[in-house]
Amino acid sequence: MRAAFKMETLKRTHTCGELTASNEEQDAFLMGWVDRRRDHGQLIFVDLRDREGVTQVVFSAEVHAEVHRAAKVLRSEFVIAVRGKVRRRENGLANPNLKTGTIEIVADALWVLSEAKTTPFPIEDETTISEDLRLKYRYLDLRRPKMQETFRMRHRITMAIRAYMDRQGFWEVETPILTKSTPEGARDYLVPSRLHHGSFYALPQSPQLFKQILMISGFEKYFQIVRCFRDEDLRADRQPEFTQVDIEMSFPSREELFTLIEGLMAAVFTLTGIEIPTPLPQMSFQEAMECYGSDKPDTRFEVCLQDFTEIFKQAGPGVFREMVDAGQTVRGLVAPNISYSRKSLDEFNTFIKQLGGAGVAWIRIGEDGNTSAPVVKNAGADAVEAVIQKSGAQRGDTVFLMAGNRDSVLNWLGALRLELARKENWIPAGKWNMLWVVDFPLLEFDTNQNRWVSRHHPFTAPVDEDLSILETGPERVRAKAYDLVLNGTEIGGGSIRIHRSDIQARIFKVLGFSEQEAREKFGFFLEALEYGTPPHGGIALGLDRLVMILTGQSSIRDVIAFPKTARAVDLMSGSPSPVSEQQLREIGIQVRRT
Ligand code: AMO
Repeated sequence: MRAAFKMETLKRTHTCGELTASNEEQDAFLMGWVDRRRDHGQLIFVDLRDREGVTQVVFSAEVHAEVHRAAKVLRSEFVIAVRGKVRRRENGLANPNLKTGTIEIVADALWVLSEAKTTPFPIEDETTISEDLRLKYRYLDLRRPKMQETFRMRHRITMAIRAYMDRQGFWEVETPILTKSTPEGARDYLVPSRLHHGSFYALPQSPQLFKQILMISGFEKYFQIVRCFRDEDLRADRQPEFTQVDIEMSFPSREELFTLIEGLMAAVFTLTGIEIPTPLPQMSFQEAMECYGSDKPDTRFEVCLQDFTEIFKQAGPGVFREMVDAGQTVRGLVAPNISYSRKSLDEFNTFIKQLGGAGVAWIRIGEDGNTSAPVVKNAGADAVEAVIQKSGAQRGDTVFLMAGNRDSVLNWLGALRLELARKENWIPAGKWNMLWVVDFPLLEFDTNQNRWVSRHHPFTAPVDEDLSILETGPERVRAKAYDLVLNGTEIGGGSIRIHRSDIQARIFKVLGFSEQEAREKFGFFLEALEYGTPPHGGIALGLDRLVMILTGQSSIRDVIAFPKTARAVDLMSGSPSPVSEQQLREIGIQVRRT
């Protein structure tokens, strides 16, 4: 029926995901997209899809000849309205995989609401098409049931977070998007001002200063589900714009904040039927680095890095001895029961070199008990034996060893540990390990800038006992900072803040900011600190990362409706894009073509 009709006269009675045998003989009016059409001559079958599911519609030449004729024009992705009677499918024709699989609608009227061109790829879950094509036609990609399920879950998680925070007495407050730059370690996205040529807003890397100011304003408990912007190199779990669940609270102890967030996590995890045992374990930054070679340890499998430096102090000549003599360290890990050939073991060497390391040595213990240790052999049989003894390696195991400066070696071995886990399937499916990493160093030395920089941000409070060595031993000062780690991914980070302006001023000094620089950058904030600041602290959770892990996706792009590529491009809308000369003139910008 393609005659003109008034849309207002059509009224949907059911979704495509709800009719069952209990609705038999009822009238139904459905709207949706043609998922598939099968033309069997006298009978045309259409799988009608909306976001709730798929319902089979039958157009029968025998029952309604005119409607059957009209259905001949239908093609995939046409949007239609269908009226008909619910009928139980004949025996043997039921589809047990569909909730609506026992029924079909026998159509007695059809309206084509809009036609569709042939789509560049089929709308189905299993797809081999390139991600670029998916992103270019994102509106079609998002029609895939799997994507819709992901966004349904994202919505439910967001709603659960809002409800929980409200129950805990937190107010959702919006903070500006056109703002002044806050240092969070990444580059800012800048927005030129039309009214003040030469001046720029920065898009917030996070609402850090505003949420602290809200504490000074006496709001006590704030949260916001907020977009943040960071111009940094992108990875599978990073986007230039992403969403944080941003939280700040006055007068909290660290443990109070932990309990709050653990309750939040429990509420979110319940949605997926997963129970998280609380309180969550805590691990110091030192332990995380020493054992896992990472400040976001994946504790789902128990392979811990080990220190073999002492052994090589007495060893024979060779790289390891030389490096230890030069004050460096030898660390390693045992890969239990791996059966790599020598050639594939050497591939780990390449893996480490790609990360910037010199390579990795290995000691392989055969099933017969014989060892082979090509690089380590100069160190002498005693050293090799001592490593095996200390490591606890058994027949069939391989010990990987690396020498160098402590921080680099730990990082590289941490990466190797994960690479081995990936290749060897060490990580059991369905395991959820969440923990707090605590006692981070407050500062780290940036050799490029030749100065101390904050590991987190400059508003993080130092541990009280370490305040006295802030100027004399900055490398030893611990921060009241914490990260929340889930299955080896950092899903949140926060801290107790500095609430006294004298301490804040000392921190800026250690960071190498002159008083004038500090005033220029954060004068408004430093001034605010002087008007009665409550002790406060908070955290921000990466909502996209959380949804990504909970929905089992491997890319953050699959949980963001309109994401950017790794080159920070939106392939659908084509941003970023040049603007007209006139627009540039208005904002006082001249583009330098290089
Ligand atoms: P932080 O920088 O640790 O802390 O960020 C908090 C959390 O946000 C997520 N995240 C990202 N997710 C996707 N793409 C990105 N580019 C990206 N960058 C960060 C991570 C991270 O743990 N203002 C502080 C919080 C505070 O101190 O309260 C902050 O932003 O999951």
